[in-house]
Amino acid sequence: MKNMNIIESPSEMQSVCRVLRQKGNTIGFVPTMGFLHEGHLSLVRRAISDSDVVVVSIFVNPTQFGPDEDLNRYPKDFERDLSLLKSEGVDLVFHPKASDMYPKNYATFVYVERITDRLCGSKRPGHFRGVATVVSKLFNIVGPCRSYFGQKDYQQTVMVKKMVKDLHMDVEVVVCPTVREPDGLAISSRNSYLLPEERSAATVLIKALRAGEAAILGFNGKSEASSTTVTSVMRSVLDSEPMAEVEYVEAADPDTLDQLKEIQSSTSKSTTLLALAVRIGKTRLIDNLLVKI
Ligand code: PAF
Repeated sequence: MKNMNIIESPSEMQSVCRVLRQKGNTIGFVPTMGFLHEGHLSLVRRAISDSDVVVVSIFVNPTQFGPDEDLNRYPKDFERDLSLLKSEGVDLVFHPKASDMYPKNYATFVYVERITDRLCGSKRPGHFRGVATVVSKLFNIVGPCRSYFGQKDYQQTVMVKKMVKDLHMDVEVVVCPTVREPDGLAISSRNSYLLPEERSAATVLIKALRAGEAAILGFNGKSEASSTTVTSVMRSVLDSEPMAEVEYVEAADPDTLDQLKEIQSSTSKSTTLLALAVRIGKTRLIDNLLVKI
């Protein structure tokens, strides 16, 4: 097994990556908040197949958590994370301290307009500003050719792509498919919060999305379906689960994230984003499907 270096200092990480690039290496980068699972590992494997050197960051970014959110109880298992990354063949792990990423008097934030007001953004004020800020900082430290994100956090992927384009960042954003448990639950570090009864109730998310997908595809051949019909189908599946408390359920434009009125099969926009956020007990879960007609 090859050597894997763990670096804590942002400036050391920056100079190590600079030297790697000067030597002609391409860097693939997977930003994470740790407590790694198969979803993260799928990104790592893709990065390894694409790049000369693979960097993974493990940093629970305080600026993307609201005051009433789970920053202090976010799950952690650093030693397990390291052994998983080492067995995948990762080269470098960046594990900065919050006080080095956000020293006293830190003042600079990145804010992507509009896209971040919708869906999760409307329920988690400041969340995407925190994500955009930390991802920009990580890109500046690592200087990757490509960076890998999971489709499960769909709004995050759209925001990062927009930020990269608008700020002329020299990095390709690669979005990889959501990894699911055999029963369809999207894999997430937050699934570890679920009690056994809640874990079985959580399958309602994918059931609702699949019902929405079937409703859209059922309209195929006709020119359009009402998005209200589709979201009502999803909502009635969610309502059938007593433990599920719906935060939002939407049919949206996959690029702008604007809520759709009609789901059209006869126009160029033939892909619909079905997205939802649901609380099961105290745990907030999100999931989405892209439906092509
Ligand atoms: O998706 C995540 O885990 C986080 O939002 C990210 C991209 C690592 C930024 O903290």
